[in-house]
Amino acid sequence: MASPRPVDLIRAKRDGHSVSADDLTALINAYTADDVPDYQMSAFLMAAFLKGLDADETAALTRAMLHSGTVLDLSHTPGTKVDKHSTGGVGDKVSLILAPIVAACGVPVPMISGRGLGHTGGTLDKLESIPDFRTDLSIAAYKQQLADLGLVLIGQTAEIAPADRKLYALRDVTGTVECIPLIAASIMSKKLAEGIDGLVLDVKCGRGAFMSSEADARRLAETLVSIGHEFGKATVARMTRMDAPLGRAVGNWPEMQESIQCLQGDVEGLDDLMTVTLALAGEMLWLGGEAASPEAGVAQAQEAIDSGAAFDTFARVVDAQGGDVTVVHDPAARAGMAPAGTVAAPATGYVQAIDAFAVGMTAVRMGAGRRVKEDPVDPTAGLVLHKKVGEAVAKGDPLATLYTARTEDIPAFSSAIGEAYTLADTAPPAPDMLLGRYTMEGWTD
Ligand code: URA
Repeated sequence: MASPRPVDLIRAKRDGHSVSADDLTALINAYTADDVPDYQMSAFLMAAFLKGLDADETAALTRAMLHSGTVLDLSHTPGTKVDKHSTGGVGDKVSLILAPIVAACGVPVPMISGRGLGHTGGTLDKLESIPDFRTDLSIAAYKQQLADLGLVLIGQTAEIAPADRKLYALRDVTGTVECIPLIAASIMSKKLAEGIDGLVLDVKCGRGAFMSSEADARRLAETLVSIGHEFGKATVARMTRMDAPLGRAVGNWPEMQESIQCLQGDVEGLDDLMTVTLALAGEMLWLGGEAASPEAGVAQAQEAIDSGAAFDTFARVVDAQGGDVTVVHDPAARAGMAPAGTVAAPATGYVQAIDAFAVGMTAVRMGAGRRVKEDPVDPTAGLVLHKKVGEAVAKGDPLATLYTARTEDIPAFSSAIGEAYTLADTAPPAPDMLLGRYTMEGWTD
């Protein structure tokens, strides 16, 4: 039977009908082969965004995207291979810190990451902010490095879930990101294609996340874990807070610099970032069979930082992937990082909130992200927050330092960051970063 015309599938979804697994597979295959243009795929994505996809459609979409490319076999490396994926946040540099920790503790981490999406940053862009760091290794080199170092950090190759690679870039610029089935299929297709045995998901919830309500974040966590289960992979989701940027740095190199600092054990004032990082690392060590429980894994992860083993692993990986190791040992030496402006506190008080979405959007406008899919990113653009939620400020204190080459817009960037801050007379309670844990057994908090 002939494949349905894309316009018929767009109409069907627009009118709220289900699309069969065969039709979804045909659509995804045709789009991957460039036989369906972006404008028709955009219309289909928007129809799916507005009308939703049911569980069968979501599983079929995941399967079609997974099989749009190669599914890797990593059985040459002994051990349980575990990866982690975040649904996306602002200042979310957790993968950069956690991957070397987990590998240093003996669990192989074959990590394939994505680029920034919307107001959120992407691990791949952050890695590429290390001069000369290569994220485009061949599959053979990816497998070899995993066997040699227990950690490899690359981007999606043309072979791995190519459908997601195209769809991800298209969704970024068509307002179709914040959709549970599309996010779930996107994440799970590329993660399942990596050849992993287990997966830990960081499902972000709050103002700076694609899921701002707890109910939606819970539904996304449940969808992701059940897809993992359906494909036979041990999967755990942690729901974590994303109201304010995580840590103090936002932007590619600023975040890389902060991650290196954490790997060196300098974590003062970064409790939010380290709480999330250690919790997720603990889960990975538990799934990977190196820790008796996620809690025991947290202690082992901390030891890997304290002993320097995690930092050494990171430096070895940067070297193996062609990156400039001197900036790992001395991040301040990287060229191109000159402060472009400072944002001053308009009043005395305590930081009540920092709007992560507003900060993320401003960082994109400063050059740290993309407004259209062809935009290059400026690796050094971004900002560092000097005041975090709960901290006291005096009028005129620096709230943030800005890094951007778009100097003509600094007044606009400064006022956007100033407006992202809410100050109050009293300190708010410390935010609880860990909001829930979901496995096929259900939720625990
Ligand atoms: N992360 C992904 O990999 N895909 C999405 O769609 C959203 C976040």
